[in-house]
Formats: sequence, structure tokens, C-alpha cells
Amino acid sequence: MKVFITKRIPEIGIHLLENAGLEIFIPEHENLSQEEWLSYCKSNDVILSVGSEFKYDKDFFNECPNIKAIALYSVGFDHVDIQEANQRNIPIGNTPDVLSKATSDVAFLLMQSVARRAAYNFEKVKSGNWGDFDPLHALGQELYGKTLGIFGLGRIGFEMAKKSKVAFDMDIIYHNRHRSEEAENELGAKYVSFEELIAQSDVLSIHANFKPEQKELFNKSVFEKMKENAIFVNTARGGFHNQKDLYDALTERKIWGAGLDVTNPEPIFKEDPILGLSNVCVLPHIGSATIEARSGMAKLAAENLIAFSKREKMPTCANP
Ligand code: DGY
Repeated sequence: MKVFITKRIPEIGIHLLENAGLEIFIPEHENLSQEEWLSYCKSNDVILSVGSEFKYDKDFFNECPNIKAIALYSVGFDHVDIQEANQRNIPIGNTPDVLSKATSDVAFLLMQSVARRAAYNFEKVKSGNWGDFDPLHALGQELYGKTLGIFGLGRIGFEMAKKSKVAFDMDIIYHNRHRSEEAENELGAKYVSFEELIAQSDVLSIHANFKPEQKELFNKSVFEKMKENAIFVNTARGGFHNQKDLYDALTERKIWGAGLDVTNPEPIFKEDPILGLSNVCVLPHIGSATIEARSGMAKLAAENLIAFSKREKMPTCANP
């Protein structure tokens, strides 16, 4: 079985695949063009796909009927047409769990960075404006006892809720497709409607899987219903928020601030005015960027392909 790995991954994944006797192809250079990617897909049997810039949709599956399985190097699978893959019996592996702690760490980091105005203060230091101690300047807000609203309470949302409960004794409310007994029992989390979530959250953090029908769900009408002290955190997918509406809400002080590890579009343009705001902290989609999480992802992606090569079910599969 010939495996096309779209970008170099931690060695553990490569070793596992080699030891399992799979033939591996990794392109010499990174940042493949669409044409290069497609031509490599055509000359291999399975793909270990890194990142979400390549779309596995109906056109792709029509053009590459040779592809038998795809192991994503991500937990998110919004770049894959799962229904189309199902119809063709193509398993789509993903990498849940191994990155939940790392990604929720970034949500937690952004929440605190925005609450304590870290980006603004760092800019001041870098530009030589440390300034004198000032009782009225650069004041953040404390998170103790505040309400954290989680949109999408899966593994990552749960980890974010747990950390926030332990660190700041925050009250946890959540909106999700299903009730989470674990979160309700362990963290005292309360299930609320979407309307209640946006109206009651002091921090609103998105942790759901992105679906096309949720495109820009967080827009002007939502930001207008949020609290004035609210912090909006998105570490899931940039497509969840309308960035212009977010900019307006931030400049008009409809909400306190925003912490983004994902942007819309992504990557963000360096001219995007949101980057100039002092109540915003933006990171370049580094949720899973720890040695531990990235190694775990490499291992899991390799294990998915090895299971497939043995005609076994992938251990973690996005197909229902
Ligand atoms: C994921 O695993 O889905 C991360 O967002 C990286 O793409």
C-alpha cells in the first residue's frame, strides 16, 4: 500500500508506517500546489493528510478513484465530504483526544490573555512605553466566579471547562447537540439554550465541530446580545464567526474582547483591522502545537492507516 504524506510529521508516525511495511512518499518541499497535491494523490493508494488546505470533496473523489482511505492529521474533518466518502466506502481517520489538552490550553490562554490585556501590554513594552505604575491604566478583569459558556461540549470543551472550574471556580454553562452527564456531574455544568448561552456568558468559548450550516453563526445579531464584559474565544474554526461583525462589536464595545486561534479567512490578512485592536489576541492556529499532541497525532494517524492496511476498522474514524 502506497502512502502519500502531504507534509512531514513527527518521526514516530513515519517509523510506525515503515515498520508496518507500508511504502511512504513525502514530497521534497512543503506548501504543495493544488496540482502537485492532486498528482501525488493519483499515484498513491492512501493519504495521510496534514492541515485543512486540501479539500476532499465529490470532485476530488471523482478525480482520484484510486484512493482507498484517508488518515487526517487533525481532529477536525470539515474539509472532507464525509457523506461522499461513506458512499464510496472510504474510511476517514482523524485524531481526537490526543490534542484535547493542548487545544483547551490555548483557549484558556486566550481567555486569560484577553481578560488581563496581555497583547496590549506586551505591545506597550515592545514599543518602549512601559510607563509608570498607574492605578487607572491597563486594567483587566478577573475571571473568578464568572460564567464560562461552552459552545460544543466534546472532549476539548470539557477540558476547557475543567481547567476554568479548577482555576477560577467559574460557573459552566454549555450548549451542545447532546447533554453531557460527565460535565453536569463532575463540573456542575448546566445545559442552556443557544440564546441563554450568548446572553449569560462572561466568556464564550467555541469548541464544536464545524458544519457548513453553522457558517458565521456568531455574527452581529449574536454579538449584540452578549454581555458588555464578555470575552469571545474561538479555537475551533474561523468559519464560526463573521470577522467584520466581530471587529464592529469590539470597536463599539458591545463585548470586552476576543481571543482567536482561528480566523476568517485563515490565514488572516496582515491588513485586517482586527489585528490593530488592543482588546484582541490572535494566534496562528496553534491549538495542537505541542510536542506531545503533535506526536500523539502522528501516532494515531499512522495507526489508523496500519489498521486499514490489515483490513481492520480504524481506531479513530470520522465516518459514522
Ligand atoms: C485540528 O486537529 O482539527 C486542528 O484544528 C488542526 O487542524
